[in-house]
Amino acid sequence: MARLLLLFLSVIAVISTAAIAQVEDEEPEMALLPTGEGREDVFYLCSACHSIKTVVQQRLSRDVWDETLDWMVEEQGMPELDEEDRQQILEYLSTYVSPDK
Ligand code: HEC
Repeated sequence: MARLLLLFLSVIAVISTAAIAQVEDEEPEMALLPTGEGREDVFYLCSACHSIKTVVQQRLSRDVWDETLDWMVEEQGMPELDEEDRQQILEYLSTYVSPDK
């Protein structure tokens, strides 16, 4: 009985280690974005089309991020955001991906 339990526990351990490794493999670029409110929104939205490196290598002011979001929507085919999401994303970018970071 104890052996069965041990076997069971090691199977669980292997499965959960594999699951964690897979999440990190799929989303290594998440680490490029500093932790903050809106981080996941930015990650999923912006990485749908290009690397997060494309985003973080820019160090833009709020105004320029504002224009960049419009440009992504108008010229690059990014889906239009509702006002609340747009504000949060703009807030995130101008806080964490700004010239003085
Ligand atoms: C539907 C696709 C799409 C989505 C979604 C998207 N982009 Fe882009 N983005 C592009 C394309 C295509 C380019 C390359 C445009 C070019 O260089 O002509 C680009 C380029 C950029 C650049 C580089 C500009 C430069 O001067 O080189 C930045 C910065 C950028 N995107 C930011 C973002 C951010 C921030 C988001 C998320 C809020 C985002 N993008 C979401 C398609 C997208």
